[in-house]
Parts: sequence; structure tokens; C-alpha cells
Amino acid sequence: MLIRKPAEIEPSEITPKSVYLNRRQFMATTAGGLFVAADAMASLSAKPGVPLKDEKTNSLKEATTYNNYYEFGVNKEDPAANAGSLKTRPWSIVVDGEVAKPKTFSIDDLLKLAPLEERIYRMRCVEGWSMVIPWIGFPLAALLKQVEPTAKGKFVAFETLNDPKQMPGVKYAVLDWPYREGLRIDEAMHPLAILAVGMYGDVLPNQNGAPIRLVVPWKYGFKSIKSIVRIRLVEQQPKTSWNMAAPNEYGFYSNVNPKVDHPRWSQATERRIGEFSRRKTLPFNGYADQVAGLYVGMDLMKYF
Ligand code: MTE
Repeated sequence: MLIRKPAEIEPSEITPKSVYLNRRQFMATTAGGLFVAADAMASLSAKPGVPLKDEKTNSLKEATTYNNYYEFGVNKEDPAANAGSLKTRPWSIVVDGEVAKPKTFSIDDLLKLAPLEERIYRMRCVEGWSMVIPWIGFPLAALLKQVEPTAKGKFVAFETLNDPKQMPGVKYAVLDWPYREGLRIDEAMHPLAILAVGMYGDVLPNQNGAPIRLVVPWKYGFKSIKSIVRIRLVEQQPKTSWNMAAPNEYGFYSNVNPKVDHPRWSQATERRIGEFSRRKTLPFNGYADQVAGLYVGMDLMKYF
């Protein structure tokens, strides 16, 4: 049997562990001799996240069985049931448009861009529920810096894979596929905006956007686009899926804002999955100290 040294092992060769194992159990197992996985997991857990004060992290079961991923169905339990058909290796992201150095990144290139960190983020869905999820990823800025955006690269447009063979939901015209999202360049460069490749100390389950998805914690969950295959730097504000579907209901900015109600329901409160009573929704989902400066001088009632 050929035994390779950890340095020769590509990050994508990480054995995807059954998602029911928590990290401590997994590390204990790997300490027993599975050095391939141990090496990869050592980088995953290099920087543990700081738990949110007075807010419990949701369980892995909650985070992986109550999902929005319309390419696999429109009901909350559909992605867990159907996303097994998504093939996440090989995978690459084309990054081009208004950049000096366009590049296609394989998943291994992406995993080597920056140290992986755990980020425990509050996630608020526009539908009025929320969760606290320990993501593993790296700043989106680390990827963008590699391609050197030009002065014309004012926005970043993202696209999900669009493959009817792997994604049963794209047969239905519930959205104009592929799923599309976008950020202004300064939002995209903000250190809180990450590309996640894992959660709960393990690789991302398919229903949560494997192998790589965006996580922007101060915006409604729909901005956090899953299973990304293309990132394009553009001069004009890009089209985004939910805004195209219902422009009066979902704006481009989509910052969490308890003062701007959805036309059909209030955004003032939310239900944390696993809790009974509702809690107050915080401006910018509780990240105002870090991100409010991005929007100084903007009328947030107009740019919702
Ligand atoms: N990305 C794609 N490609 N397709 C989707 O339907 N749903 C969005 C977002 N990203 C969606 C997507 C919505 S509405 C939410 S709330 C979050 O994913 C949910 O992420 P989670 O299932 O990991 O909690």
C-alpha cells in the first residue's frame, strides 16, 4: 500500500466524514491513526470560532434538515432528501469579468487560498426564522485579491450550478435558473463575508451548498448562494434571482432591517429554529458595528 506524507495530499482528498460525528469525536478518531483526515481537520479546526454571547448554536440536525435550496425542491425537507444527487468533485469556479487576472480555481486551489477558520454566525432568513451556524471557510476577499479586480469591477455576480441531471428542481420555473446573487465590491471585500466549505467541523453537506457557498451574515439568507460555479466582476449592479422574481419584495441589498417590512409580513421579529417565542430582529442581523459604515448616506428604506 502506498502511504503518502500529509504534504502530498490535496485538501479535496479529505474523507467526508459522516455528518453525525461532532468535531471532538472526529478528532479523537483521527488521533487513533487516520492521519490523512487528521491532517486536513487540523487545518479546519486551526482557528475555532467564538460562540455568540447568550445565543445557543443550532444543532447539526436543525441546520441540515430545514433548508432552502430550490434546485432540490421548494419544501424545507426537500434538500436533505434530494441533494444526494449533486456531484461535488471535481468542482471548479470560473472567476472573470473586470479583473486583471481571470482564473479558474479548482476546489483544491480554493482550499489553499487562505487558512480555514470557524465562524459562528447568526443567519436570518427573509421568511422570518433564524439559526446560529458554525461555518468553516475563508474570506471572499482572499479569492477576489487573487484575480485583481479593475476599477470597473464595482459589483460581484455569483452563479450556482444549473444541471437538470443533478438538480431535479431546475425542471420547474420557480426561479429563473441558474440561481444568481450579487454584492457591491466593498461588501464582497468585507472580512465578515466568507466562502464556506464546511460547517460543524466537517465538510459542507450537499443540502447546505457543497462544495462551496457564500455566507454574508448581515444580509437575509437568500444572498448566501450555494454551490457556486461562477463569479464575475461587473461594472453594473447584477441581476439577482429573488429580485428578478419579485422586485417589490426582495431588493438587491437585502440587509437585515427590522424597520423595513416585507410587503406580506413584518420583519421586526424572528423565530430562532428550536425556540418557541419570537425574538427581536437586530439591524444588520446584529453586525451593525462592523458593517453599518458600508451604507452611510444611503436611504435604507429605498435601498432595501
Ligand atoms: N442558493 C441556491 N443556489 N438556491 C437556493 O434556493 N436559497 C437561499 C440561500 N442560498 C438558495 C441558495 C436561501 S432563501 C436561504 S435562507 C439560504 O440559502 C439557506 O441556507 P441553509 O439551507 O444552509 O440554511
